[in-house]
Amino acid sequence: MSEPQKVPEEYSHVPDDGYILQRHYAASARLNLQHHLYRQSIGYLLHPCIPINEHMKVADIACGTGIWLLDLADQLDTNATLDGFDISADQFPHASTLPPKVRFSVLDGTKEIPEELVGKYDVVRVSLIVLVVKDGEPGGWIENLMRMLSMLSTTFLEPPQI
Ligand SMILES: C[S@@+](CC[C@H](N)C(=O)[O-])C[C@H]1O[C@@H](n2cnc3c(N)ncnc32)[C@H](O)[C@@H]1O
Repeated sequence: MSEPQKVPEEYSHVPDDGYILQRHYAASARLNLQHHLYRQSIGYLLHPCIPINEHMKVADIACGTGIWLLDLADQLDTNATLDGFDISADQFPHASTLPPKVRFSVLDGTKEIPEELVGKYDVVRVSLIVLVVKDGEPGGWIENLMRMLSMLSTTFLEPPQI
């Protein structure tokens, strides 16, 4: 893989914390563009098998710019809850631009999940974390994400009976 493009210092307000893709404006633009390309090619945001309900609770872990969650917010009821989490808030949209049902918070997907988030969500989504999963071992991530799902959703994850 080629080296990430060096961004002039005056455009990068984020100190280098070792995250290989960085979090400056160009990195955010890339994530947003990528999202639109994926959406166009996949054809949906939430898999059509997932039942939508009025009070749906959705979490997006390692959400980056939060573009997927904001896009989904347009399709869900005002009573829905859409929570974005990332280890860094640097790419979150400004809070003043968010619809009331969307919130972003800092959360490390590898650390123990706070009790108030356990079993809370109908849908827990994660994407594009291949570069941040340590030693190619996603076990801790998966365990944490599963803990955030409500019992109903865990049942839904079972293979469909055909
Ligand atoms: C390639 S971006 C993907 C962003 C988003 N999921 C998307 O598809 O556009 C990877 C994200 O993982 C976040 N990240 C890295 N380590 C993390 C951790 N331990 N917990 C939560 N987020 C993390 C980074 O800050 C970055 O926003």
